[in-house]
Amino acid sequence: MMTVPEFQRHKQDGKKLIVITAYDALFTRIVEQAGIEAILVGDSLGVVVQGKKDTLSVTMDQMLYHTKLVAGSAQRSLVIADMPFLSYQVSVEEAVKNAGRLLKAGAAAVKLEGGAAVLDRVEAMTRFGIPVMGHLGMTPQSVHRYGGYKVQGKQEEQAQALVADAKALEAAGAFSIVLETIPAQLAKTVTETLTVPTIGIGAGPHCDGQVLVLYDLLGLFDDFVPKFVKPYAHLKADALQALRRYQEEVEQGKFPSDSESYH
Ligand code: KIV
Repeated sequence: MMTVPEFQRHKQDGKKLIVITAYDALFTRIVEQAGIEAILVGDSLGVVVQGKKDTLSVTMDQMLYHTKLVAGSAQRSLVIADMPFLSYQVSVEEAVKNAGRLLKAGAAAVKLEGGAAVLDRVEAMTRFGIPVMGHLGMTPQSVHRYGGYKVQGKQEEQAQALVADAKALEAAGAFSIVLETIPAQLAKTVTETLTVPTIGIGAGPHCDGQVLVLYDLLGLFDDFVPKFVKPYAHLKADALQALRRYQEEVEQGKFPSDSESYH
């Protein structure tokens, strides 16, 4: 069973941390069979499951539902649940309450986006025993502020602010920090500066671990494929081929055949 302290120990032991998103019981079982031990119930489900153009409309109830599906099926993995937009921004009190609801649904930790603006939330949750993963760089809930999904931290001032945010999150108690879509050199600096593990997505090879959206990795979702995604399978193409063959065989009277029939 992967725990938060075990997750953190990987950095000291020099072992890469592998994280993948999952949103349901079936894929949780497949992820675990592959030996991956950290699952993020990402609010990316707004895009890849719900078909929205961003993550902003995802609600607490939806995150609770998917967290229950994943945590109910996970046997060994550390399950981290994303805090959706507006579940932690309004007040420290609401943030702690909503993080607690995700833990009651079965998550072992929560993830939230932002630096200086969320330090008091991270500090309060940590104080009450809720492990928090930070998330810096191209934070998708701020897509409108950035004017699109663009690389962050390219200017020196931005880079320095990101390093300061990372240090402050660690000091506030974050057990790990996701670095999304930032230059590889900046991710390296942050990784070397922190004692807690960094998990990269579009942040180059120097982070302590990596995370990808499961449907991107499997080649299931191709509406928008960022440069940092490497599809390790082409399941959309396989699904299309299977569905077309099924359609053809029913039309031609080849399916169902005798072997799929009861006598
Ligand atoms: O929502 C998500 O899946 C994420 C990862 C991409 C880091 O936040």
